[in-house]
Amino acid sequence: MKNDRTTTLGPLRDPSFRRSAALFRAFLREQHDPDHCYSLLARDAADQVERYVPLRDRVVVDVGGGSGHFAEEFRRRGADSYLFEPDPRELTAGGRRPTAGAVVADGYLLPLTDGVADVCFSSNVLEHVADPQTFLSEMVRVTRPGGLIYVSFTNWYSPWGGHEWAPWHYLGAERARRRYERRTGRPAKHTVGENLFPIHIGTTLRQVRSRTDVSVVSARARYWPLLPTLAPKIPVLREFTTWNLLLILRRCP
Ligand SMILES: C[S@@+](CC[C@H](N)C(=O)[O-])C[C@H]1O[C@@H](n2cnc3c(N)ncnc32)[C@H](O)[C@@H]1O
Repeated sequence: MKNDRTTTLGPLRDPSFRRSAALFRAFLREQHDPDHCYSLLARDAADQVERYVPLRDRVVVDVGGGSGHFAEEFRRRGADSYLFEPDPRELTAGGRRPTAGAVVADGYLLPLTDGVADVCFSSNVLEHVADPQTFLSEMVRVTRPGGLIYVSFTNWYSPWGGHEWAPWHYLGAERARRRYERRTGRPAKHTVGENLFPIHIGTTLRQVRSRTDVSVVSARARYWPLLPTLAPKIPVLREFTTWNLLLILRRCP
């Protein structure tokens, strides 16, 4: 399914080389222009959600929503949007005010009743939790039957798997982290086993497909410029060539 949309860069088609290049350029500027980076990413993700469900008048829950760019974009498109984030510092990163609808809460235990959300959304959080399947179960619990679950994560063997110390994670996490600290003189944000956990595409797909409470609508390389559903199908290769896996799930009735 293709999708055209307008940004400050003009229409971007997903998938396309132009879109991937725009996202990559924004990602490279993330440190000194986070607003540009996350606004573009949020528009892109909202477009992806809207391929499956219109956002207007829907209840959207963003789990681990950080600075709130995604929740704000959903609201701009008419959604009733809420953000759950356990770290208050993330809500105010870059001097931002916490976005409307932001709640300090852990994704393992959302303060929501069952089936309240039309869309449950989580971008780049799964690799930061020790028990991704329990985290996912909580997302499923709060989604209404027939509702949509958008979950994306950076797989460990992705070129960005080690986050700020990538790509040196290929030589070992601890070594990569120490190298980063030595080179930059700054403490690394992530430590494996504390706030970053190796997660793999094959294992995750097997776990999700074995669940009886969701069906897998799509599994794709989130940022890939062409044939995004092909890479996640190829064992071993998918772990290295997929920068980030996007799963679209449907809550079973
Ligand atoms: C890399 S950031 C992603 C932020 C945003 N979703 C995005 O895509 O830009 C990871 C976020 O996950 C949050 N997080 C970590 N553990 C979590 C948990 N147990 N429940 C919910 N969020 C969590 C972190 O606080 C952080 O804001």
